Amino acid sequence: MAGSAARYFFLFLIGLVAGVIGTVMAMRALDARKDHFPESLMYVQQWHLNQLHANVEQNKCGAIDTIPHLQALRTSANSLEQAFPDLSDDERFVKHASGLRAALDTSLATPPLNCPGLGAAAKDVGEACKACHQDFRN
Ligand code: HEC
Repeated sequence: MAGSAARYFFLFLIGLVAGVIGTVMAMRALDARKDHFPESLMYVQQWHLNQLHANVEQNKCGAIDTIPHLQALRTSANSLEQAFPDLSDDERFVKHASGLRAALDTSLATPPLNCPGLGAAAKDVGEACKACHQDFRN
């Protein structure tokens, strides 16, 4: 009696382990097929914006510390429509993408040269990000 209970429990454990392995494999296969570009673009933009905020906190607000991040944000903002092809026909999406590019163009045309200026520029950029997220990020 005790022997068969142990055997069933053992079979149950094997089934459980096989199920877990199968689920992990299926999830990895799905993840590998997914397009990673959109989230990568967003994370790269987030990193550069975070650097600008960190620079304000560390009092590193010279043009040399600031402009490369603004340029990286500006260049990568050109790819927003390609990164989200399903949304690129949506007028509001294109408007938000253009809004971010415009905010960055403004900052690059007259780069902030001190921390209050950099703080204001980073805030403007962050608001342009948020404007699109409010409409399109779930
Ligand atoms: C024109 C629209 C648009 C603009 C502008 C935009 N984003 Fe996004 N962002 C999105 C969308 C859409 C998502 C949701 C992506 C998803 O979940 O598939 C997103 C998601 C994100 C995420 C989460 C990524 C993830 O998958 O977890 C981060 C971080 C992010 N954005 C940062 C930024 C930053 C920083 C800026 C500004 C410099 C910015 N975004 C500007 C549309 C935009």
